[in-house]
Amino acid sequence: RPLGVLGFSFNKGQPRGGTEQGPRVLRNAGILDALERVGNAVVDHSNVELPNPPDEGRDNIAKNCRAVGTANKKLSEEVSRYLKKGERLLVLGGDHSLGIGSIHGHAQAQPDVVIVWVDAHADLNTPMSSSSGNMHGMPLSFLIRELVEFMPQTPGLDWCKPCLSAKDVVYIGLRDVDPAERLFIEKLGITSFSMQEVDKFGIREVVEKALKAVDPSGKRPIHVSFDVDVMDPAHASATGTPVPGGLSLRESFYLAEEIAATGRLAVLDIAEVNPLLSNADGQKTTVANAVDVTAKFYGSKRQGDVPRDYVIP
Ligand code: ARG
Ligand code: MN
Ligand code: MN
Repeated sequence: RPLGVLGFSFNKGQPRGGTEQGPRVLRNAGILDALERVGNAVVDHSNVELPNPPDEGRDNIAKNCRAVGTANKKLSEEVSRYLKKGERLLVLGGDHSLGIGSIHGHAQAQPDVVIVWVDAHADLNTPMSSSSGNMHGMPLSFLIRELVEFMPQTPGLDWCKPCLSAKDVVYIGLRDVDPAERLFIEKLGITSFSMQEVDKFGIREVVEKALKAVDPSGKRPIHVSFDVDVMDPAHASATGTPVPGGLSLRESFYLAEEIAATGRLAVLDIAEVNPLLSNADGQKTTVANAVDVTAKFYGSKRQGDVPRDYVIP
């Protein structure tokens, strides 16, 4: 199956400029080549064309909700269109509000999708429970059916009907979770492997348990939404909300390799690379590590790869 690549050059789900440059810096760092080398038939669909930003009234607690809503509507349409054509998809963010459109679109094409949310944060705030008002901290609240009673009408997001059950979602890497998010995780019974569980069980058991929990049958399509801030700031400092104590590069690689081995990865989001934050060194390592982890999700292996058309010199 071809692997489509969609850039989502968007930053209005959070306050810092630079996140919109994620797709450009990841492409410049050779992400497409890295995927082709290991045998993927890559089709770059370039960046999603975003509608002109609508005027934001001052009436809503979810900041820039009209811009977030209209951009994600477009993303949802494109994701579902390419999946229905039979592609797998890599979505290059952009801030993590992209989870709204990417997952909504995925669920339209493959209603039995399961979500592996790999992040330091739960991104499960409702507009009312969020203390920041930043929509990159809210995407899952717009998608999970069990939360409808807590959701206000949000301008720009009327098109987005929740399409997931709480049991279709599993978290890996959490370490900065707000009170309402923690309560929702408990009340709804969302499976969650925080960094505490990564320490307790090791990444190997965490990945195994996570996949078993969300799909014991091992048959459903997988959507991984990977926020680069899940990695320790030593490996990914060029991001808007870094949190100490994260996944090592090795743990990130292992997770990606195991997901690749399922053969069921249908959509991968890479979110929150911000090449204007940190310092020159941090920017370089963040982008390089994001590219390397992405390649592992699509078949590159630490044991070594033989590129498709390689001949011994
Ligand atoms: N929980 C915090 C908030 O709601 C931080 C969210 C960070 N999200 C992210 N995608 N980096 O604002
Ligand atoms: Mn995060
Ligand atoms: Mn996130």
